[in-house]
Amino acid sequence: MDLSNGQSIISPTSPLVARIRAQKVDSRSTKGLPTFYRNLEEALDIRRSSQSLCPIVQNSWQVGDAVDFCSNDILSLSASGALRAAFLAELSGHPNFNTGSGGSRLIDGNYPYLEEAELEIAGFHGAESGLILGSGFDANIAIWTAIPRPGDVILYDSLVHASTHEGINQSLAMQKVEFKHNDAESFREALLSILKTQPLVKQGRRSVIVAVESVYSMDGDVCPLRELVDISKELFDQQGNIQFVVDEAHSTGIIGPKGSGLVCELGLEKEIALRVHTYGKAMGGSGAIILGNKTTKAALVNLARSIVFTTAPSFPFVASIRASYALLRRGETQQAQERVQSLVRLFFEAVTSHPLWHQARNRGLLSVPLTEGWESRPFVTHIATLWTRQRYLYPLYFHILSSSYCVFPVGPPAVPLGQSRLKVTFHASNTEEQVQGLTHAIFEWAQEVMAIEDGTTDKGLSRAAETVYNWMRAEGLSGFGM
Ligand SMILES: Cc1ncc(COP(=O)(O)O)c(C=O)c1O
Repeated sequence: MDLSNGQSIISPTSPLVARIRAQKVDSRSTKGLPTFYRNLEEALDIRRSSQSLCPIVQNSWQVGDAVDFCSNDILSLSASGALRAAFLAELSGHPNFNTGSGGSRLIDGNYPYLEEAELEIAGFHGAESGLILGSGFDANIAIWTAIPRPGDVILYDSLVHASTHEGINQSLAMQKVEFKHNDAESFREALLSILKTQPLVKQGRRSVIVAVESVYSMDGDVCPLRELVDISKELFDQQGNIQFVVDEAHSTGIIGPKGSGLVCELGLEKEIALRVHTYGKAMGGSGAIILGNKTTKAALVNLARSIVFTTAPSFPFVASIRASYALLRRGETQQAQERVQSLVRLFFEAVTSHPLWHQARNRGLLSVPLTEGWESRPFVTHIATLWTRQRYLYPLYFHILSSSYCVFPVGPPAVPLGQSRLKVTFHASNTEEQVQGLTHAIFEWAQEVMAIEDGTTDKGLSRAAETVYNWMRAEGLSGFGM
């Protein structure tokens, strides 16, 4: 499907059409359903009425010619086939493998290959031990339900992932305190207040456990980890009762020597108690590992119910993770890692040097927060966010999509109400032309809107928005900024 003629974003097979149609509340058709299903439909109607129901569809770049500025295959290890080849090589080295692990980790599910993989991966990241799990979500649940002991305090960045919130909610910690996102002063104040109000923490008998992420998925910014570690050392005596858990989901493969993550980039391996590396993003597969030492590993496998009562990872699953590390270790992802850096810098440069940039920004029409000081940053991340006035979010999205670029509109519940934005994810396989094309599409839209606002055109809507809204009106649909 070629999306470049603008009209095709509303073709009957377009994923956008499926998404918009899925929001229609049809109380007449659900009225006659059995109570069980009607209640579920009513819960879904709440999502539909805020246009946040997600149908299960393929994305535009998967079913047509749109360019992928959206998926998590950042190093393009999956799309390029590089990981497939490494995986098949790993399998062929173990032709007699068992397909299943045979049980839970503590009973029959442990086997030498799994232990070797965990040790090898832990060594790669400069950690003592590793524990492979089914997903990053599982890893965060396991950590936060097993590690904080009664009387401990959890201090977390306000933008940590849903899985961390979920785990924290289920934890045994006595107190859960939020600090402002990436704000070292707020972190310091929160610690001072904990020391003042929690005598057992002050006496070093209970711990503070800090939850942060290397790179925040909805903003693309990087945790000031060294600063936070320094503050914690300054305020706490040497009793070891403040420890960090760093979720490296968005830095694995992307940041640090050979993609080993932010903690390795900063040389903080010895300072961080637990790290989560996930494999569903830049590593091109799925699953996760929790890095720590032998005490944290024993605590996790014994105290996290989600580990105790589940089957251990199977050989094919572990082999795919090991295969992606083979690529990292051999330096075969280095070029892709550097390419992402150069494409993101090209994007920042193209945006900030565009003739309309200052005007669009000053009018509150466009902002790309990460362009602030990008030249002096030692590294950038693969995520950039594009902001406009909230009511223009979908018109901008429609324009970008109709120009054949697939970005992702992020709204509640992933981000707070009123903070919707477009998320742009760069991949090693993106080309310079695509980055320039995306930038061109963004400013083409800004120019259209400025003309509308200045009254220099008799149009009331930007072109792509008009196409989509005319179709929606004809179908009796509403929402999406219409
Ligand atoms: C920061 C962070 N942690 C954990 C996860 C969950 O990882 P997984 O997809 O492997 O469950 C995600 C996924 O989006 C994430 O962004």
